[in-house]
Amino acid sequence: MKEKLKTLLTQTRYIHSLNVSECAKKMAKIYNIDEEKAYIASILHDCAKCLNHEQMNYYLNKYNIKLDEYEKDNRALSHAIVGAYIAEYEFNIKDKEILNAIKYHTTGRENMTMLEKVIYMADLIEEDRSFEGVDELRYLVNKGELDKAILISLNNTIRIVIKRNQIIHPRTINARNYLVSTI
Ligand SMILES: [Fe+2]
Ligand SMILES: [Fe+2]
Repeated sequence: MKEKLKTLLTQTRYIHSLNVSECAKKMAKIYNIDEEKAYIASILHDCAKCLNHEQMNYYLNKYNIKLDEYEKDNRALSHAIVGAYIAEYEFNIKDKEILNAIKYHTTGRENMTMLEKVIYMADLIEEDRSFEGVDELRYLVNKGELDKAILISLNNTIRIVIKRNQIIHPRTINARNYLVSTI
């Protein structure tokens, strides 16, 4: 799987994927989820991130992938959707939970599964991440406050997107509102 993944990613993105997988494995222990599923979802989460325009179109056509109006022409969002298809059909991953964790790793969604939460968060706090506030997120994750860490991250994302005057995917808003009402 790793060898095949290497052919799809740049060196930097490959190292990021390994880092996320290390982080997800540790989190799987803390949050009591299947370590192998966490490993597979995390190592493959960005498998579509480095596709060029032609390659992206190739997979969109090959698997008849329908992107929504927000995902269309937005690589930051579409790589997660296309990545789930590549994991399923190119890496032969049939587990729906793993595929959904890949699919929702960028936007999040309402009522996320524990595996989805772990992949979402591991992507943000892997060891090479160094943005302001990342240590607080690591601290919260290590002491079992994953939902709090995700809510902070969703709020950060929404703030950044507003600042850049970009479109926010409704799934991110829903993920955020859901956590606000359940924490
Ligand atoms: Fe990603
Ligand atoms: Fe990532």
